[in-house]
Amino acid sequence: MCGIVGYFGKREAAPLLIEGLSKLEYRGYDSAGVAILNENGVNVAKRKGRLANLEAALEESPIEGYVGIGHTRWATHGSPSDVNSHPHTNGDGTIAVVHNGIIENYIKIKEWLMTKGYTFKSETDTEVIPNLVDYYYKGDLLNAVMEATEKLEGSYAIGVICKNEPDRLVAVRNESPLIVGLGDGENFIASDIPAVLNQTRDVYLLENKEFVVMTKDGVKIYGDFEKEIEKEVFHVTWNADAAEKGGYEHFMMKEIHEQPKAIKDTMAGRIVPGHPVNIDDIHITKEQIEKLNKVYIVACGTAYHAGVVGKYVIEKLARIPVEVDIASEFRYRDPIIDQNTLMIVVSQSGETADTLAALKMAKERGARVIAVTNVVGSSAAREADDILYTWAGPEIAVASTKAYVTQLIAMYTIALFFAEQKGTVDPHDLEDMKKEMSTLPEKVEAALASEESIHELAKRIKEHTDMFFLGRGTDYAVAMEASLKVKEISYVHSEAYASGELKHGPIALIEDGTIVVTLATQNDLFDKTVSNMKEVIARGANVIAVAQEGHTEIEKSTENVVFIPKVMDLFTPVVAIIPMQLLSYYLSIEKGCDVDKPRNLAKSVTVE
Ligand code: F6R
Repeated sequence: MCGIVGYFGKREAAPLLIEGLSKLEYRGYDSAGVAILNENGVNVAKRKGRLANLEAALEESPIEGYVGIGHTRWATHGSPSDVNSHPHTNGDGTIAVVHNGIIENYIKIKEWLMTKGYTFKSETDTEVIPNLVDYYYKGDLLNAVMEATEKLEGSYAIGVICKNEPDRLVAVRNESPLIVGLGDGENFIASDIPAVLNQTRDVYLLENKEFVVMTKDGVKIYGDFEKEIEKEVFHVTWNADAAEKGGYEHFMMKEIHEQPKAIKDTMAGRIVPGHPVNIDDIHITKEQIEKLNKVYIVACGTAYHAGVVGKYVIEKLARIPVEVDIASEFRYRDPIIDQNTLMIVVSQSGETADTLAALKMAKERGARVIAVTNVVGSSAAREADDILYTWAGPEIAVASTKAYVTQLIAMYTIALFFAEQKGTVDPHDLEDMKKEMSTLPEKVEAALASEESIHELAKRIKEHTDMFFLGRGTDYAVAMEASLKVKEISYVHSEAYASGELKHGPIALIEDGTIVVTLATQNDLFDKTVSNMKEVIARGANVIAVAQEGHTEIEKSTENVVFIPKVMDLFTPVVAIIPMQLLSYYLSIEKGCDVDKPRNLAKSVTVE
């Protein structure tokens, strides 16, 4: 986790570093800090808590200078505190480092450095880095950083400045993201593109173990042994405004409303009625698809819930056995994988540590890997055999919404593609599915019209401390995702159960007034789900039902019904999640929570 930035140029560094960090707070916001070089040497300012605390400190005691590094932290080693905040320095404060990642062997290094007389102030793993650089420093910062990183095990993206070399900024990445922003007479480093987008659209996407050296003459990238590398410039085409709130009070609401477009963009050119499914970035052949003995879909959190829908649809349409796994579990069991196994990793960021570890394991064992990711050039995209990008645009709110629906679209696209290649679905039915899928942007738009009534509903139930979500089939996947959204942004305890499982224990939790949201969007399962709903109503539950328009009979059982536009059963997850996202948003608002930055969470989980 954490976000890092760096600046080398002709303008004052502090405001540019702060602006960059403000775009990276989604990566963690336990503390923020900067280190800026000037004639006094390395000047550090850092504060526990949100970036605003650092801004206030800098307003009180400004630091001038044209070269600097900055950091926003999600605590791993050592609690959030001023002393554990980055940047960290060597003993005499001449070398400063910002770091995103985890140094797994830091204790060993720390103990070794202590035998050499080094002392430490913080509980962090990061503090070994400036001290190690100091140990190897013989008048060449790049060399010292290269030697120091040789000793590091784990993940890191680091930015380093040094009092003795005020005309240089050095950076490197390994398993943590890092980009270089290329300006006019000035350059930047950052963990993610939005941090530099107000300044430049031209970036380098760094690979592992690529070293950056910034000087007044520009940027040079080196591989091991100081071999200079020619990098291709990546031109960012999305709008800087796309990374801003665009008039909405919160990023999450903006992103909820961006879903029709995100879905449309993700389907564009891929699902076109009258044409074969076209996934140009996936090169798996018909023969290879026919030989597949197993598909593993591996992901974490919300992305995992998209995978659960993926299992239903790939099995149903392409008739290939699918297992869906939580990445942190998958990597620690001994799954059966061979060259006829396909792994689909689903990751918005493409940087989730557990998902990447599962990806690597599958590749080592001979499986082919498709990455479904939203971030171009992310680690998942680079390491997989095939990539299916979800074109949701940058997702800033910690709670995933638009990335999730585009992950669903990716699951349907893969399922339809495999079905078409294998001939497991009648071509007429397949065509109907493509036509129906093409209408999803407008159906999602129509579902957004329930916003006001959902807000009223949230007001009515905001005092409840427990909630349950029930569903069968793909409705169960939606129930899981809805439940996660509610708990993560409104801190209401919530659980999702498969409707049929209720009688096997959880029904004991139902008492007078308990809020139970029942997803009943599947026509063929409708009656069964309504029966389960009646069982909880009989035990006093206050039921909110979600059903397709036309199923008015459900109103006989509960007056709280949220109708979604009619859609083919296969695709209801894309539409049914919309009122659930709105419900979690308004519960969060009504409870006065921080919608975009829920406590204890970070957007990109780059540690195990
Ligand atoms: C919840 C949420 C998380 C992520 C999970 C995986 O709203 O966003 O559960 O889905 O941390 O992240 P990615 O998709 O980046 O691998």
